[in-house]
Formats: sequence, C-alpha cells, structure tokens
Amino acid sequence: MRAIVCPAFGSPLELTHLPAPALGAGQVRIAVAAAGVNFADTLFIAGKYQEKVAPPLIPGMELAGTIIEVGEGVTGLATGDRVMAAVTGGAFAEEAIAAQTDVIRLPDQLDFVTAAGFPVAYGTSHLGLKHKAALRPGETLVVHGAAGGVGLTAVEIGVALGAQVIATAGGPDKVQIALDHGAHHGIDYKAEDIRERVKDLTGGRGADVIYDPVGGAVFDASLRSIAPDGRILVIGFASGTVPQIPANILLVKNVTVIGYWWGAYRKLNPALVRDSLAECMEWWAEGKLKPHVSKTLPLADAAAALELLKSRAATGKVVLTV
Ligand SMILES: NC(=O)c1ccc[n+]([C@@H]2O[C@H](COP(=O)([O-])OP(=O)(O)OC[C@H]3O[C@@H](n4cnc5c(N)ncnc54)[C@H](OP(=O)(O)O)[C@@H]3O)[C@@H](O)[C@H]2O)c1
Repeated sequence: MRAIVCPAFGSPLELTHLPAPALGAGQVRIAVAAAGVNFADTLFIAGKYQEKVAPPLIPGMELAGTIIEVGEGVTGLATGDRVMAAVTGGAFAEEAIAAQTDVIRLPDQLDFVTAAGFPVAYGTSHLGLKHKAALRPGETLVVHGAAGGVGLTAVEIGVALGAQVIATAGGPDKVQIALDHGAHHGIDYKAEDIRERVKDLTGGRGADVIYDPVGGAVFDASLRSIAPDGRILVIGFASGTVPQIPANILLVKNVTVIGYWWGAYRKLNPALVRDSLAECMEWWAEGKLKPHVSKTLPLADAAAALELLKSRAATGKVVLTV
C-alpha cells in the first residue's frame, strides 16, 4: 500500500510503498478514503506527543473509509460499511487498522472528507465541554484559537449546549469564521486585550468556562479573564509554550483548572466516547454542527498539510484524500 512514513523523529516525511498492516482480533481493516490532519500529528512525528510510537511510523490520527476486512471477535461491523475512526497513528495510508471500539458507522449523507476530520475535533470538544467542564446553559464560554480544528468545534458545541460563546483568534478573518459558526462575540487577540474585552462582555465578571488549545500567553490571559469559581479546560499548547500555573490565583479566585486528553478516554471509557460522538452525529444531522473543511490535499502532500497548521494558515480542518 502507499503510505506516508516518518523514518525518524524530526526527519522529512516520505511517500512510500509498505506491506499492509496485520489485522488483529477486535480490529477492522479500512480502505482509507480520507484522513484528517491534526496539530498533534506535528508533535507525533517530532517525538513530542504524549503517546509515542517508535519510527519508522505512519502519522494520522483519524480517517474515513470503507471496511475491507473484519478481525476475529468483531461484532456490529461488516465489510462494505462506510465508517470513520480514531487511530494512534496510521491514517496517512491506503489501508489502516482500527480497534472496533474506535470505529463509527457513517450515515449515507456524511461524505468521507467531512467524516475524516470529525472524530478528534468534535469528540474532544463535546466530551470536554459537556463531561469534563460540565458547561451549563446560560454560562459564558471563552474559546481560544476559535478558528482552528478543535477551536471551531468548541464554538459550535458551546452554542449547542446553550452557552454564550466568546471566540478569540489571531486576526479578523479568523474571528469572522468563528462568528459564522455561531459565536456570539469575537476577540482578535492580535489587536485586542483578551482580559479587557472578556470583562467588558461579561459586565466585569469574567468567563465561567475557558477552552484553551493554545497555552502560553493566552493561558495567562485566561487566568485573568476567568470568573470567580470558573473552570479552565486545558486542551493543548499550539503556541509551543506549556503554561506554569501560579496556585495562589487558583486559590484566591476559586478557579478549577481541568487537565483533559480525549485520546486517553478511548481506552479509559470507550462507551463514554461513543455516546459523545453519537450525540455529535445527531446534532450534525439536525444541522447544529457544520463541519468546516478549509482545504483538501492529496495524500502525497501530507508534509504541506502539516505545514499549514504549523504556520497558522489553516482554519477548521485540513483533510488528505487518498
Ligand atoms: N486535549 C486533547 O484531547 C486534544 C485533542 C485535540 C487537539 N488537542 C490540542 O489542541 C491544540 C490544537 O489542535 P488542532 O488540531 O485544533 O490545531 P489547529 O487546527 O492548528 O489549531 C490551533 C490553533 O492554535 C492557534 N495558535 C496559536 N499559536 C500558534 C502557533 N504558534 N502555531 C500554531 N497554531 C497556533 C491558531 O489560531 P490563531 O492563529 O487564531 O492563534 C490555530 O488556529 C494542539 O495543541 C493539539 O495537540 C488536544
């Protein structure tokens, strides 16, 4: 099969031919039609992701396609099923192996390109906001990096859960994308002070919940923008800087900082992840979620696709077609 391979951590990606991966019990083989691109892939191939696979490795954490082989013990899935799946690497290839628990059948109306970018971003934001942060209707939610992969889904899910959503992003075009996806207010953090604007928009109180995939200075601004008794959901560090948290501020403001990694829940509580994605699919069918794929590239251009994310040129999802 054709596959994108990372020969060593930090080395350039190569398009190459490999034997198809072996199929184990409880797994299915999928002919990949499209694969979603995530910021985490850039960390994975640099050896900086929290879950490490020894190189040579195939990147790619989510995909959509057709089941072509079913492993021993698999129930409820069959060859020919159109599916999407989350995987720990392996999606940037013509064939991928996924655990049955990580595979979801697609409704006919959901195309492969849209589905390929669905599980990680919507899964992360739905489980994070509903289960981890327990976001309630009427609360104020600030979403940082709101035009990015996970950020834009957090905007939509925040709105679907009945929150007042304030989107922050770098530049007016990105802020507009978040507004187009339902955010009630936007802050361009290249030009405006996050704390001042959040305080203005909340009558001086601050946000009840903050969703932060950016880290660094943006996280520091969150600490100063959160309402007393508020919750900050730590999603990631796209800025490259892992925040250090002064515990005195947490104490004085009664702030809860919630560490959260969606991928871990695929093993910790697969039923919770499946229920969460099932609700996302329902909301998609009802028109509450409008996945935004800003660019599709052929598999061979995986390196260029990752560069779009690293250079902050991407919005919503970038998807590779196979
Ligand atoms: N905890 C979890 O379970 C989980 C799940 C999925 C993703 N994540 C993490 O969430 C973060 C975002 O992932 P993603 O796939 O949504 O990425 P993405 O689509 O590239 O979005 C990242 C956003 O971060 C902002 N950003 C700020 N500084 C940046 C920089 N130096 N380089 C790149 N982007 C920068 C960009 O928005 P502006 O230009 O508007 O600032 C961009 O839209 C990553 O750290 C990823 O590892 C965590």
